[in-house]
Amino acid sequence: MKVYGNLTGIRTSELRALEALYQKRVPLDVLTTPELTRALVHFSHHSGRQCGVLVDRAGKVHFVVGGDASKLDLPDVGRMRAGDGRLRGLRLIHTHLYDEPLTQDDLVDLSKLRLDLIVAICLQPGRERALSVYYGHNVPVPDGSNEPSTRTYGPIPYAQLDENPAKLIEGLEQEFARQRSARLRVSTAERAMIVQAIARRDALEADERLRELEELARTAGLQIVGRLRQIRDRVDPKTLLGRGKLDELVIEAMRLDADILLFDGNLTPAQAAGIARATELRILDRTQLILDIFAQRAESRDGKLQVELAQMKYLLPRLAQSDDSLSRLAGGIGGRGPGETKLEIGRRRARERIHRLEKQLKELSRQRKQRRAQRERSDLPLVSIIGYTNAGKSTLLNALTASDVLAEDKLFATLDTRSRRRRLPSGLEIIFSDTVGFIRDLPRELFAAFRATFEEAAEADLLLLVLDASDPSLETHLRTTEKLIDDLELNEIPRLIVLNKSDLIPSVEAARLAYEHDGVAISALDRSSLDVLLERIEKILRPSRSLSPLSPWEAQPQLEKPEEQAAPLEQDEPQQQEQAEAEERQSREAQEAQEEREE
Ligand code: GTP
Repeated sequence: MKVYGNLTGIRTSELRALEALYQKRVPLDVLTTPELTRALVHFSHHSGRQCGVLVDRAGKVHFVVGGDASKLDLPDVGRMRAGDGRLRGLRLIHTHLYDEPLTQDDLVDLSKLRLDLIVAICLQPGRERALSVYYGHNVPVPDGSNEPSTRTYGPIPYAQLDENPAKLIEGLEQEFARQRSARLRVSTAERAMIVQAIARRDALEADERLRELEELARTAGLQIVGRLRQIRDRVDPKTLLGRGKLDELVIEAMRLDADILLFDGNLTPAQAAGIARATELRILDRTQLILDIFAQRAESRDGKLQVELAQMKYLLPRLAQSDDSLSRLAGGIGGRGPGETKLEIGRRRARERIHRLEKQLKELSRQRKQRRAQRERSDLPLVSIIGYTNAGKSTLLNALTASDVLAEDKLFATLDTRSRRRRLPSGLEIIFSDTVGFIRDLPRELFAAFRATFEEAAEADLLLLVLDASDPSLETHLRTTEKLIDDLELNEIPRLIVLNKSDLIPSVEAARLAYEHDGVAISALDRSSLDVLLERIEKILRPSRSLSPLSPWEAQPQLEKPEEQAAPLEQDEPQQQEQAEAEERQSREAQEAQEEREE
């Protein structure tokens, strides 16, 4: 029978004594039996080490564990979802060499392994004798409450021990199950806890980043049940957080029934693997979260391929961390991995897939270029609407062209560029196009993949840089957007700042912002506020277009009804797309079949 834990330097006779513990039986209605206590105390007294047994509810010993003077390293007893609403059905009965209450390590094990109970039998120093007993259990805690998630008892003099834990465990189990079904009635979303490990110099940004991450999480369909922040001078390269903070995190995650730890910032593959191993929880970082949102939202073939490429590139170095924590790193939300990729996909297959995706995307880019060239021949000026996610770009495109492009109060509702045409009162026809929303620290993988969606913007005659004027992070958003404009090499194109959502702030404030940024304050929800914007657009575009020298704006002051003018472009695209998708599916299936044959 295998004995677990720290056995370095243990004598053969001591090992035999531990093996013999597998024969013991401990009924559920006692904390320990005199026989078990005697055997545990005997071992610990003579070896100077802790020892313990994990016992099931039928009384059978499943694991015997040896330790050192201050702690036991429990074996991997298998992962259990925090949200399962159950206890594990195992009790740990172990020794402490001195009269000390349950330690932090004990409480972490209790929480992390969802043990029914943890019992510490304390030895009388220098004597082969049990002096006192401490025990503790998990408690269900209602959402929003700050109560601790474990309860401890003791010291109870060993001689007076007559606790019967059977009823207690049954009651706890029922309470956990009740809580679980109540939570499911409220929401079936996966429960996540946000973790921020922030260097002291960035502490000022912490709240703003938290707000943004929560917004992203909400968009991805996660329920945020808790937050943990650690501000440090130096960030631990292995696990990001210090050991003590990790322990706190595990206990808190269990208390809140969180299935996922969502990290603000990006984790290296080694950090993600280290944290998954230490916490036994699923790990998600900001990049994965954004990739996940993109995966949910991509609609066009191009968009889908780009997201899959980005996910595969993110996954590849993580496949090198080949241990069982991989499934906790690669799972995505609700088990959505990249495309049809199986988690056990090998690195070679992943590389091949990346290569193929890149080839397909290149071809699509060529086709797009062709289409653009056709459009250029029609010589219509192009106005690209860009800006931070959720600033109201799609709503503005809709308002300008009376179309019904998806506009949602969620981040990244738009993933695929959409173009619509409209005629200005002067007669000038313009193409407006929407783009994917910007966000700070755009994942590198995504940046490369999504550069393509800005190919069109690169040929724009004007960029409308849309900002949410009511957002307290307006200035950061402006800086992020301007930086990305630089990175995307769009800085040569004239730009006009559009302060949207000005209906949400006092008009004086809107006017001040417009003046300060030499922009236009509008509300995309109020079409009458768009006249000034159209006027400015026309002014900027007019010099480069050969129009009547008479101000056409004055000649035709009435804004024509956009409904009559808006016309979607490339109406035949969906059909082309379906056909292309079918072709791609066929070629992919053929290629995969071929690969399987090779393997
Ligand atoms: P992404 O697709 O994430 O890049 O977002 P977007 O910039 O296209 O934003 P979208 O048009 O989807 O609008 C986001 C939310 O803001 C929606 O709920 C809109 O109804 C709302 N919104 C847009 N413009 C205005 C406005 O002028 N005033 C107010 N009050 N809300 C607005």
